[in-house]
Amino acid sequence: MSMQPHRVDIMIAEQEVQERIKQLGEEINEAYKDSEELVLVGLLRGSYMFMADLSRHITVNHEVDFMTASSYGNKTESNREVKILKDLDGCIKGKDVLIVEDIIDTGYTLTKVTEMLKTARGPKSIRIATLLDKPSRREVPVDVKWVGFEIPDEFVVGVGIDYAQKYRNLPYIGKVVML
Ligand code: IMP
Ligand code: MG
Repeated sequence: MSMQPHRVDIMIAEQEVQERIKQLGEEINEAYKDSEELVLVGLLRGSYMFMADLSRHITVNHEVDFMTASSYGNKTESNREVKILKDLDGCIKGKDVLIVEDIIDTGYTLTKVTEMLKTARGPKSIRIATLLDKPSRREVPVDVKWVGFEIPDEFVVGVGIDYAQKYRNLPYIGKVVML
């Protein structure tokens, strides 16, 4: 995707993002307080910043690992192919897995990744935390445990999320407005 003339307006300010991530961390600490082995699995590249911020608020001992999944095909097809481009480095067998995602749109990526990890890797549990959710775009249901913010159907950037690989560094969530 190449860039078209546009501007970026602030949708969720940095402070609001950080306060919400702190709250999510507290809820996650409570949920996993008895966990013996917790691993946060971030989906690259979009989740890197949320992962770093969230991980700092999680006081339960945990590992972090990353994978890259890419979905191909027509967005309207009900059977979009999701490929694993980079697999986890570590083993998740018997561990509590918390998938950390930047934004959920149609839901295909997370559905496929979760199914694959569940059936092939034997984790003790799998739950999902996403910074942003666009529920109005959902095509397949996803059971998401923690959502930072529900947003309308707008194209957003910042806090790890890109437009043509740019703007991941913005500390706030911005809305891309085409000119
Ligand atoms: P889906 O849920 O399988 O449709 O895919 C979600 C992925 O689409 C996210 O992880 C992002 O990489 C990308 N995505 C969805 N909405 C946006 C957006 O508003 N800005 C940037 N990337 C987006
Ligand atoms: Mg993503």
